Amino acid sequence: MKKSVLLFSLCFLCVLTSVASDTISITSPDKNLVCRIFLTGPAGGSGNLYYELNYKDKAVIKKSALGINLKSPALQLNTFDLVEKNISTTDESWTPVWGEVKQIRNNYQQLFLRLKTKDEILVNMVFKLFNDGVGFRYEFPQQAKLKHFIIAEETTQFAVTGDHKTFWIPGDYDTNEYAYYTSKLSEIDATGGKFSQEIHAKTYFNTNGVQTPLMMKTGENLYINIHEAALVNYPAMNLVIDKSSNILNAHLVPDAVGNKAYLQTPSKTPWRTVIVSDKATDILASKMILNLNEPSKIVNISWIKPQKFVGVWWELHVGKSSWDYSGSQVGSQQATRVPHGANTANVKKYIDFAAKHGIDAVLVEGWNAGWEDWFGNWKEDVFDFVTPYPDFDVKEITAYAKLKNVQMIMHHETSSSVSNYERWMDTAYRFMKNNGYNAVKSGYVGQIIPRGEHHDGQWMIKHYERAIAKAAGYQIMVDQHEPVRPTGLHRTYPNYLACEAARGNEFNAWSSGNPPDHETILPFTRLMGGPMDYTPGIFKIKMNFYDTAKKEQVHTTLAKQLALYVTMYSPLQMAADLPENYERHLDAFQFIKDVAVDWDDTKIIEAEPGDYISIARKAKNKDDWFIGAITDENSRTSILPLNFLDAGKKYLATLYKDADDAHWKNNPEAYAIEKFMVDAKTILKLKLSPGGGAAISILPVGNSDIKSIKNYK
Ligand code: NOJ
Ligand code: CA
Repeated sequence: MKKSVLLFSLCFLCVLTSVASDTISITSPDKNLVCRIFLTGPAGGSGNLYYELNYKDKAVIKKSALGINLKSPALQLNTFDLVEKNISTTDESWTPVWGEVKQIRNNYQQLFLRLKTKDEILVNMVFKLFNDGVGFRYEFPQQAKLKHFIIAEETTQFAVTGDHKTFWIPGDYDTNEYAYYTSKLSEIDATGGKFSQEIHAKTYFNTNGVQTPLMMKTGENLYINIHEAALVNYPAMNLVIDKSSNILNAHLVPDAVGNKAYLQTPSKTPWRTVIVSDKATDILASKMILNLNEPSKIVNISWIKPQKFVGVWWELHVGKSSWDYSGSQVGSQQATRVPHGANTANVKKYIDFAAKHGIDAVLVEGWNAGWEDWFGNWKEDVFDFVTPYPDFDVKEITAYAKLKNVQMIMHHETSSSVSNYERWMDTAYRFMKNNGYNAVKSGYVGQIIPRGEHHDGQWMIKHYERAIAKAAGYQIMVDQHEPVRPTGLHRTYPNYLACEAARGNEFNAWSSGNPPDHETILPFTRLMGGPMDYTPGIFKIKMNFYDTAKKEQVHTTLAKQLALYVTMYSPLQMAADLPENYERHLDAFQFIKDVAVDWDDTKIIEAEPGDYISIARKAKNKDDWFIGAITDENSRTSILPLNFLDAGKKYLATLYKDADDAHWKNNPEAYAIEKFMVDAKTILKLKLSPGGGAAISILPVGNSDIKSIKNYK
């Protein structure tokens, strides 16, 4: 990755051998944020370590404890002497391989503390204070008295200032596929709730446990997001709320024997992050988590390509065909037999469709032997990832895709037998390369093997990274389903295009689904860590289309499904519905064909978690803009000034909107398309139906095109 220093880098160095003061402050570059670090003890410069965070003179995080408890050696690392402090300022910019913007500014004030316990254990704390929030972490430098150690728990606290409105999912060691709850902190009950029963492999641990990214809104309209960055070789962090004090306590995911992490000096924890603003739009625009991750480890990035794909996939979820060769659909509650989806003729239909409409790639699930008993048995040897079913002709499909200039995406469902996947991974990646596949969708459904390990524990965190790094060695791009929630690691591994790690659109096919506010919350929570393979673009909204007995449905209008290509950022976007459903609405499908997947610029025009989001993005190396506007269950009028367009230029806008009588529940597929001319002075007024949305493409035009089309009124 090219890292260009745009502005000068300032460095104020202040090295002290003995420090009398017990309070150290740093200030964000725009002066809005102040972070204070305290060593509170009998003598100045020694004692228990705390921090606090203020935004525009208001407390965001009150004085909160820092520390780590070790199991072996048995030590509490929370009382320190200050050995050295060092404050510095960085202001630079870097260019992501792909992303929401062309360049990212990395501008912060840093405090580095060298600390020592009375037992002479050395711990460093690093705080980076940006305009959008703070990131801090613990470092364990190489030292005589600490080499190998086991973490019992991290005792980091986030003492918030009140009983905030919170967008949360239950704390869990294994799954993040819950729908969001919106409640006060004091009302959180992670034990059950209406969505719990639909989720397998869940490991609830505490009534007051929640996952990050945790989104909160204070009574004074401050927006606060707590998460982590650069989760590497360490378990994920859940938070447990102390309801009597509004303190959120770190709770690390344990391993099979109850330990949290095995480390060796020198090592570092992930960054703990608090993003804060009085504008919800700033939370979505924050690049702090990316800034806290390491630059790309991949030097040659020419093979990494943002892309759109279709796939033998939704037809499996709606029960039209099966993963399983016998058609019995183990694990999908389907009693009657249906055809095997991944047969050569069917796959060729998808390749034809992709080729005809300029879609880059085709995913095929259920192509390989093993689906007969892949689910629910906690069985170790299920798939080998190289044995196709007899009706899936790998060579013929590869040749056909090549002829049609379409890429194939491999599918590796591991059934969470990760020990088995680790044994096969090299062979499987080599098989992919030999057959022309350059991207893999992997999956981790079910309980982990090695038995007792968890999806979000240190063992699996290392596995996800190893799978991505190894794939990079084969020049393979990765899309993981059911992994840990992302923490910006796609900066370091840009072949990690996307992951699921939340409740995707698929839940609408076979469960109570995703409530109409779901997609207005995800960008404030799950997507803070990285792009999501949400699989938007469902046009056939009601599942009774496939089987009259079905009651399930997507909880949006069709127009909102289009808007998601813009509001739900990902460099990997599926056109998830069946080709025949798109053929019936080619006018609306045009938006999916046109919309970009890589961007030079992003404007978060308006946003409120749980209510609405409107975003405009400029396509990479083009003057084309795309807008997505979505609402929750309430109808709404979006006012969108187009002042980001080039002044004086004329653009042709195509608006894909909810029809006047559209409604997510009763009339979800009613849409209308309008074309008109716009410029930088245009202010669009869009009516969104309940559960609805609007998508707009805005393409520059030459003078000759302008005459026939009316201006926007
Ligand atoms: C769950 C994934 O999220 C889904 O996309 C996939 O089709 C199934 N697992 C089967 O692997
Ligand atoms: Ca899933």
